[in-house]
Amino acid sequence: MKPIGLFYSFNTRHTSDAADRIARELGEKNVDRVNIETIEDKVFLSYSYMILGVSTWFDGELPNYWDEFLPAMEHMDFTGKAIALFGPSDQVGYPQNFADGIGILADFLRNRGATIAGHYPAKSYHFIRSRAIEGEHFKGLVLDYANQPEMTEKRIKEWCTRLKKEFKFR
Ligand SMILES: Cc1cc2nc3c(=O)[nH]c(=O)nc-3n(C[C@H](O)[C@H](O)[C@H](O)COP(=O)(O)O)c2cc1C
Repeated sequence: MKPIGLFYSFNTRHTSDAADRIARELGEKNVDRVNIETIEDKVFLSYSYMILGVSTWFDGELPNYWDEFLPAMEHMDFTGKAIALFGPSDQVGYPQNFADGIGILADFLRNRGATIAGHYPAKSYHFIRSRAIEGEHFKGLVLDYANQPEMTEKRIKEWCTRLKKEFKFR
């Protein structure tokens, strides 16, 4: 087992593209990729360092599979786990619900003992409201493939540099 579990739906286009880039940036030897469509509770809870890929669908809701897995997560204890989130979102199409998926999952996990890692500055985005916002940061890495594709690579690199410091594994 590698130190970090990276969980996302392998069938999502942007989320899986970002997951590939993040795994490369953190080093393939450090990251196990796990498909949340076929996840088992035991596997999900076996990592101390977790990265969750969660876009936003349905106007401010969790995307498929996270919404289906959520009831199973209700009774899990994430104490002692450092969890980072990332998600593709659309600030022009959905400025009132920008990256809400990250906020929903971050709050849910924190309420169950997790430490949320990988906050990312919100200053280079334009939106009205987001459940992912906390002060001047998002509770994870927000990517916008539709409107700021040229910033994706730089954002991923910066975020992974931060994460390497926050995730203290060898
Ligand atoms: C029906 C629909 C609803 C969406 N709702 C939101 C939303 O509420 N907030 C947001 O930031 N993005 C929203 N998006 C944009 C997606 O999150 C964005 O396209 C993302 O790149 C999808 O990545 P994925 O294919 O990996 O899930 C929505 C997209 C669609 C098609």
